[in-house]
Amino acid sequence: MIYKILSKVIEFTDSDIPLYQRLGKVARLIVGQLPVDACGIYLWEKNERRFNRVAAGGRRRKNCVESYGEEEGLAGRAKKTGRAVDCARKEAEKTRWGSIEDRGLKGFRSAYVYPLRDGDDWRGILYLKAEKNLKLSEENKKILHVISKQLASTVKNEQNYLRLKNAYKKLNDLQIRLMNAEKLMAIGELSAALAHEIRNPLVSIGGLASRLRKKLEPLSPHLHYLDHITNSVTRLERIINDILNYAGKREAKFNVGELNSLVNESLWLFEEACRSHKIKVVKNLSKAVIPVVVDPQQIKIAFDNLIANAIQSMEHGGRLTLTTAKRGGCGVVEITDTGGGIEPNIINEIFTPFFTTKKEGTGLGLTITHKIITRHKGLIEVKNDYGRGMTFAVKLPFADKHPERDGA
Ligand SMILES: Nc1ncnc2c1ncn2[C@@H]1O[C@H](COP(=O)(O)OP(=O)(O)O)[C@@H](O)[C@H]1O
Ligand SMILES: [Mg+2]
Repeated sequence: MIYKILSKVIEFTDSDIPLYQRLGKVARLIVGQLPVDACGIYLWEKNERRFNRVAAGGRRRKNCVESYGEEEGLAGRAKKTGRAVDCARKEAEKTRWGSIEDRGLKGFRSAYVYPLRDGDDWRGILYLKAEKNLKLSEENKKILHVISKQLASTVKNEQNYLRLKNAYKKLNDLQIRLMNAEKLMAIGELSAALAHEIRNPLVSIGGLASRLRKKLEPLSPHLHYLDHITNSVTRLERIINDILNYAGKREAKFNVGELNSLVNESLWLFEEACRSHKIKVVKNLSKAVIPVVVDPQQIKIAFDNLIANAIQSMEHGGRLTLTTAKRGGCGVVEITDTGGGIEPNIINEIFTPFFTTKKEGTGLGLTITHKIITRHKGLIEVKNDYGRGMTFAVKLPFADKHPERDGA
C-alpha cells in the first residue's frame, strides 16, 4: 500500500503537465487512499504572505478555504510552529479548535496540516479534513510526511525552473536589444553621412525650382512639374532632417520640466490638424504637477512624433486621448488613438529605422522617439488593440529620481 501510493505520487509529480494539474492529481489520490473527505494543497505566496489554495480533492473539496493569512487558522499554526498540526474534536459545527479560529473547520471533526518546506523555505501546506473523529494510523502519518517532502521539492523545482526561464528570457531580450542598438548605430552613422551629402544639392534644387516657378506665367501648363519638384524636395528634406535628428550627436541638455505643460505644448502644434481631420481631443491630464528631468526640445520631438502618428492613423476622424499620471516613481504620458492599430504580425517592426506603412512616411519617427526616451532613462510601451487603436505609453523618471540630475 505504502509503495503503491508513493510510486503514484512520484509518477504524478514528475509528469510534464502544469504544476496545478499535478498537484490536483495528488490531492485526489490522497482522498482516494486515506479516510479523509477533503484535501487542499496551498502554496506560500512570499509577497502576499499568504497560503493560497491551488488544488483540492475529495467529496467536500469545496469546503477548503481559498486562502489563509500567515497567522490564520490551522495553516497559521503550522507556519508558526513549523510542524504538522493534528486536530481532532467531538463537535463538527464549530469553526474553532481550542484558541484557533479556522473557517475551514466547519463541518469537520478532524484536520491535519502538513508543512511543505525544505529547510527554512516555505513552499506551502497540505491540508486534510475528515467529517468523523479520525485517528490517522502511524503508517498513514508517515506516508503523508513523505508526500509532503515530495510536494515541497516539486514546488521548489517548479519555482526554480520558472526563475531560470525568466532569467533566460531577460538575457535573451537584452541580447536582442544590444544587437539592435549596434545595428542602429551603424545605420545611423551611414545615414547621417549620406544625409549631409544630399542636403546641399537638395537645397539648391528646391531654391532653383521656386525661382523658375516665379518666372512662369500663372497659367503655364509647366507649373505642375515645378510643384511636383518642390513637393518632392520638401519630402526629401523632411527625411533628411529626421535622419540628422536621429543621428544627431547633440548632447542632451537636461532640466526640470513639467509633464502636463510639455504635453500641452506638443498638442498645441496639432490642434489645427485635429480639427481638420475631425479628431476629438480628450485631455485626461493629472491635476497634480509632474516634475520630470528632460531635455524639453528633445522630449517634445518625441511627443510630436507620437501625436503625429496617432493623427495619421485616424484619417477619417476619431478620438485622441492624452493621459498623464504619476505612477511608481515615474511620470507617465499615454497617447491613445482610435485608428485601428497595426497588424500584429508587423508590430515588432515599428521601431526599426525606415519601417513605414505610409506612402509619405520616413519610418524614422518611432526610431527617433525611442532613442530620445532611452536617453532620458525612460521607457516606451506599446499597446496594440488591433481593429480599435493604439496606446503609446512613455514613462519618465521623476525629477528627484533622475540619475543625471546633478551631472547633466
Ligand atoms: N498610432 C499608430 N497607429 C497605427 N500604426 C502606427 C501608429 N504609430 C506608428 N504606427 C506604425 O508604425 C510605423 C512607423 O512609424 P514611424 O516610425 O513614426 O514612421 P512613419 O510615421 O514615418 O511611418 C508607421 O508607418 C505605422 O505603420
Ligand atoms: Mg511617424
